[in-house]
Formats: sequence, C-alpha cells, structure tokens
Amino acid sequence: MGSIDEVKDLRLRSGTVDDATACGTICYEAFKAIAEAHKFTPDFPSVEVAIGVMNSLLSHPKFYSVVAEIDGRIVGSNFLDERNVIAGLGPITVDPTAQNRSIGRKLMENAHERVAKGKFPGVRLIQAGYHTRSLSLYAKLGYLVREPLACMQGPAAGIAVSDCNVRTALESDIDACNRICHEIHGHQRAGELNDAIAKGTATVVERDGRVTGYATMVGFFGHAVGETNRDVEALIGAATEFAGPGFLLPIRNGELFQWCLQHGLRVTQPMTLMSKGFYEQPNGAFLPSILY
Ligand SMILES: CC(C)(COP(=O)(O)OP(=O)(O)OC[C@H]1O[C@@H](n2cnc3c(N)ncnc32)[C@H](O)[C@@H]1OP(=O)(O)O)[C@@H](O)C(=O)NCCC(=O)NCCS
Repeated sequence: MGSIDEVKDLRLRSGTVDDATACGTICYEAFKAIAEAHKFTPDFPSVEVAIGVMNSLLSHPKFYSVVAEIDGRIVGSNFLDERNVIAGLGPITVDPTAQNRSIGRKLMENAHERVAKGKFPGVRLIQAGYHTRSLSLYAKLGYLVREPLACMQGPAAGIAVSDCNVRTALESDIDACNRICHEIHGHQRAGELNDAIAKGTATVVERDGRVTGYATMVGFFGHAVGETNRDVEALIGAATEFAGPGFLLPIRNGELFQWCLQHGLRVTQPMTLMSKGFYEQPNGAFLPSILY
C-alpha cells in the first residue's frame, strides 16, 4: 500500500493503533451525522466509545485496516474481520466533510483486494437501512441484499424458555457450537466464538442434554445460532443486557420477531445484511452481529 490513487491527493495505507483517535472521531461524527439527519439515535453514544472500538479493531491481529489520508490528514477508514472463513467488512466511515467524493468506494475496493488476496469465499456487511448512499454504493460493488433486520433493544427479557437451559459457554463446547453454525450457515465462525469464550461473553443453550444453540453475546457485536426459534428465544431470554444499540433480528423470521415484540422489546432502527460471494440461505434460527 502507500500509493497515490487517481483521486487527487488521496493516499491509502494500513492503520495503526496510533490512528485510533482520528479514526474514532471520524467514525463517531460520520454515524452521528447520518443518524441525526434521519432522526435516529447514533450508533455510538460518545466519541470515547467510538475511539475505544477503533482501538480494539486496530490492535486486533485478525482485523485488517485501511486508512485514507489527504495531505497527511486522515479522512476515513475501513476494516475487515478476518477471524472466520467468511470475511466481515466494516465499520467504514468517511469524514462528513469529505463524503460523496469516491473515498468510500476506494476504501471498499481496497478491502475487496484484501478479500481476494486472502482467498475468502465471501464477504458480508450490515448496512444502516435508512442510508441510501451506503446501500447504493454496496450494491454497485456487487453486494446482494440477504436479510432485512431490526435492531432490537429494551429491558433484558429475563425469561426462561421451558426445557431449555442456558449457561456460559466453555472451551469444551466449541466443537458443538461450530457444528451448529455450519449446519445453519454452511460455514463456521470459529474465530469469533473463540474470542467470545475467552472474554466470557458466550452462552450456550442445551435441550435434552445437548447443545442446540449459542450466542457470542446477545448484542450489537455478537451473533447467535439455534436449531430452532426456541433455542434463540432462550438465549435472548437469558441475556442480562443487550450491549450497544441492540441485537440484530432477521425480521423475515416472523415468529421470532413477534416473540421479541410480545416480550417488550422495541425496534430501534432498520438494517440490512448484504453479501458478496458465498452465501447459503440459513437453515435455522440466527441473529447476525454488526460485523455480519
Ligand atoms: C457510507 C460512506 C462510507 C460512503 O462513503 P462516500 O465517500 O460518501 O461514498 P462514495 O462517494 O465513495 O460513493 C457513493 C456512491 O453511491 C452513489 N450514490 C449515492 N447516493 C445514491 C443514491 N441515492 N442512489 C444511487 N446511488 C447513489 C454515488 O453516486 C457513488 O457511486 P459511484 O461510486 O459509482 O460514483 C460514507 O458516506 C459514510 O461514512 N457514511 C456515514 C457512516 C456510514 O453509514 N457508514 C456505513 C455503515 S453501513
């Protein structure tokens, strides 16, 4: 990297932890501007939270980062989650004063070169449903709309689902969790699962003495899978909070969506799961994370 692109004076380079403050500030401002323009609550409650997220992504060995600069000033960044078989793209943000000048497209193309180099069979992202520009940009770059999502928030349900036992996930659960994910999605999310078990945020649901679903976390940065809706209901019902803006629910799963609404949860914003490359229609209940 380090070449000057055809966009005048734009330079793309790898990100470092030293870029966290500049990237986090832009990330905060970019999401705040587009959310407030549509009268939604911004995804990041403060610039400090956005800087903290950038810091953890920039320091994680399995996240690829690219930073855009004009005259030495950072104007945007993009990330690729390389922990799993399928890559996860984002968050991508461009300084609101520099948007709509093809910088976002360049940051996307750079990440796609990385996807090709890494021979990932597919890449996915979550798009803010009210943002016409990101929807158009991603579709122009080959992404297909896969699932309309609702971001759900509210008091943690505290509901036990009969015959389902939810407990903290252990390292000894990894094989069972990966098997369920593979059965439902056609691929595993082992890297994320390992991180979540190490952090202590992952849970599993058991029925009839065997693992039938798991969540890395029921929240914005966590995904979940279950053999049936009841398994995912049990995982949601056992969560003590829904970290961040909420968890992401595929609303074509009407039964699970209605269950959430009946238990007092509210929709905070519409989002869209989009994919490029390998994708199999899920064969079970699932909640994507903001990383896909
Ligand atoms: C989304 C974001 C990264 C895009 O970056 P950007 O530099 O503004 O976008 P670009 O100028 O590269 O690309 C916009 C493209 O969408 C097209 N476009 C924009 N609005 C459109 C519309 N309503 N209909 C059709 N096409 C549209 C533009 O013509 C352009 O296409 P082109 O690349 O073929 O010329 C940036 O706007 C941003 O940071 N937004 C706020 C944060 C955010 O929403 N991030 C993404 C989370 S999903």
